[in-house]
Amino acid sequence: MVRGNLLATIMKTIVVLTGAGISAESGISTFRDNNGLWRQYRFEEVASPEAWAREPELVMDFYNMRRKQLLAVKPNAAHFALEELEKKFRVRIITQNVDDLHERSGSSDILHLHGELRKARSTADKDLVYDISGWELKLGDFCEKGSQLRPHIVWFGETVPNIMVAAGIVRKADIIIIIGTSLKVYPAAGLLQYAPSSAPKYLIDPEATPEYQVRNLQIFREKACIGVPKLVKELLISAVQTHQSP
Ligand code: APR
Repeated sequence: MVRGNLLATIMKTIVVLTGAGISAESGISTFRDNNGLWRQYRFEEVASPEAWAREPELVMDFYNMRRKQLLAVKPNAAHFALEELEKKFRVRIITQNVDDLHERSGSSDILHLHGELRKARSTADKDLVYDISGWELKLGDFCEKGSQLRPHIVWFGETVPNIMVAAGIVRKADIIIIIGTSLKVYPAAGLLQYAPSSAPKYLIDPEATPEYQVRNLQIFREKACIGVPKLVKELLISAVQTHQSP
């Protein structure tokens, strides 16, 4: 067995569930904070199949505005710390975020639950997905089958295609880290029920409240850019000590 595979078998697996809070310090709005997106927009008007059928221009503008903002921001210290974690652990990121900041910070194993802002999907064939070059997707942009392209986003009321894949990943976690999510939107918020009760769990969120019905949970009431690098440093040190001990 080559060294790489050997390392992969003895490396512990850390599953990281992220939400909008990990991207907040990059300048991307969260949804439910005081200045969050759902304070500025009604999601029924910009993020649902009914909205798309009723007023597609408004929906397109909502995602074009967010895509334009995404192109102007960068990953932050929390994103880069998760990439650093890959030195000693198998890190599997399950994100509710539609931004590409985990990708741009170098993480290698990312599962998007709610879609990807920089991609478009055919309205005739959900398997036809395309990268959007630049920030704008327009009415009149068609797929190869001649149907209108839509944002590659899971809207309210639509099923989350990757949820059972995500549950399978959480089931096999040795360690779980939850960063910057209000855990208010299901089925994503229900993923924690699949976590092994024995697995150490860490939650990083400045507004975290102790109401989570989760065993073996340590809460860091800090912003991601402070809490994530701190936790990553601790985990990397513990990994070195574990491998050094006879
Ligand atoms: N660092 C860490 N956490 C933060 C920070 C920060 N700097 N700033 C805010 N937070 C926390 C908030 O306290 C809150 O708990 O991030 C969380 C953001 O919660 P939401 O705005 O509800 O975002 P999220 O949980 O990702 O929403 C889930 O809801 O609207 C849908 O599809 C959308 O994926 C989204 C889903």
